[in-house]
Amino acid sequence: MPHFPKPAEGSWTEHYPELGTAPVSYEDSISPAHYELERDAIFRRTWLNVGRVEQLPRVGSYFTRELDAARTSVVVVKGKDGEVRAFHNICRHRGNKLVWNDFPQEETDGTCRQFTCKYHGWRYDLEGALTFVQQEEEFFDLDKGDYGLVPVQTEVWEGFVFVNLDPENTTSAREYLGSLGTGLEGYPFGEMTQVHRYRAEVGSNWKLFIDAFAEFYHAPVLHAKQAVADESRKLSGYGFEGLHYELDGPHGMVSSWGGMAPPKDPSMVKPIERALRSGLFGPWDKPIEIDLPPGINPARSPVWGIDTYVLFPNFMLLVWAPNWYLTYHYWPTSHRTHIFEGALYFVPPKTASERLAQELAAVTFKEYALQDGNTLEATQRMIESRVVTEFPLCDQEILLRHLHKSARDMVDDHERRRTESPVRISAAV
Ligand code: FES
Ligand SMILES: [Fe+2]
Repeated sequence: MPHFPKPAEGSWTEHYPELGTAPVSYEDSISPAHYELERDAIFRRTWLNVGRVEQLPRVGSYFTRELDAARTSVVVVKGKDGEVRAFHNICRHRGNKLVWNDFPQEETDGTCRQFTCKYHGWRYDLEGALTFVQQEEEFFDLDKGDYGLVPVQTEVWEGFVFVNLDPENTTSAREYLGSLGTGLEGYPFGEMTQVHRYRAEVGSNWKLFIDAFAEFYHAPVLHAKQAVADESRKLSGYGFEGLHYELDGPHGMVSSWGGMAPPKDPSMVKPIERALRSGLFGPWDKPIEIDLPPGINPARSPVWGIDTYVLFPNFMLLVWAPNWYLTYHYWPTSHRTHIFEGALYFVPPKTASERLAQELAAVTFKEYALQDGNTLEATQRMIESRVVTEFPLCDQEILLRHLHKSARDMVDDHERRRTESPVRISAAV
């Protein structure tokens, strides 16, 4: 794990000279053509987190994920050998989607012994092998061994299930996550199995919502009304300064202050938070003690409250001081729409008051996320006007600068490789 130095001089942004400090174009968030390129260059090539192992408790447990941006649907399943595998969700007979319930475009989950296609009844086992063909003798030299489900590279990292849709990919998910991932290893994610989930369709480019959650520069202003009046005035006076920023490859993290769980002075927070001993930062009482891995609170700050990891392209992981975590996913459905998912993970409550404290954290999170979400459609509409095309980003917005650069670089790189490929050249000749 590398040491995390605070820049001796200058800003966090200047610490990474490749980012530059110039105003940033948001054309990448409004151009339908650019989005089409992102689908192939990013979503069909990088490791995507599609869920957690707790969603697959038994042999035969499965769930589907609609990966519209990557132009496919996958089914993730636990095999007889306990391995987690993923397959493209398509029947090898005539291409029907294999696993779905009433609505083919909706995700589903469950437990089964095999997958049976609704169309003509072909069956596949949990390891993807074709095991039954209706009226097999009517086919011509059909070898069932040639018609298994199309596998997708799958890897479980710290209980998070990742898939990679690029059959030529040679990098493991662990390598892909780099030093930021390694620094999180050993955190007891698997003990936090009490989950509260939110899902929303949002009218903005996927990167705009990551932008909103990857900086806290907005927090004292946009969320001012969440604090009691006095506190809110103080907070907007202080502004926000991250304790630490770190970038590695396309990923980034910010470590932040978080003195509200518990607050120094209970009168800083609203009466319901005092009554339930909880709030946005989570329940005030830690359910378990954790020896934090080196990547969490890297500055070892005594006022540390939360680390926010932006794991490219569309997965965010937030680890909070009172020992719980939060995930965000942003699944694009067009250049100007995406599905947002937020999930809070707690150690299962042992008492009613622990349960209530978790519930309050969950509804408080929803309130904040709605405030964040509110600005997104307003921003999308106006940047689409192209009246203004370049936007100045401050030092506390370094992760946004990095996100957009990483996404643009990946598209450029993909385009370069595509146009340089021999097939393309001979086709052009
Ligand atoms: S399409 Fe699946 S069995 Fe025919
Ligand atoms: Fe916010």
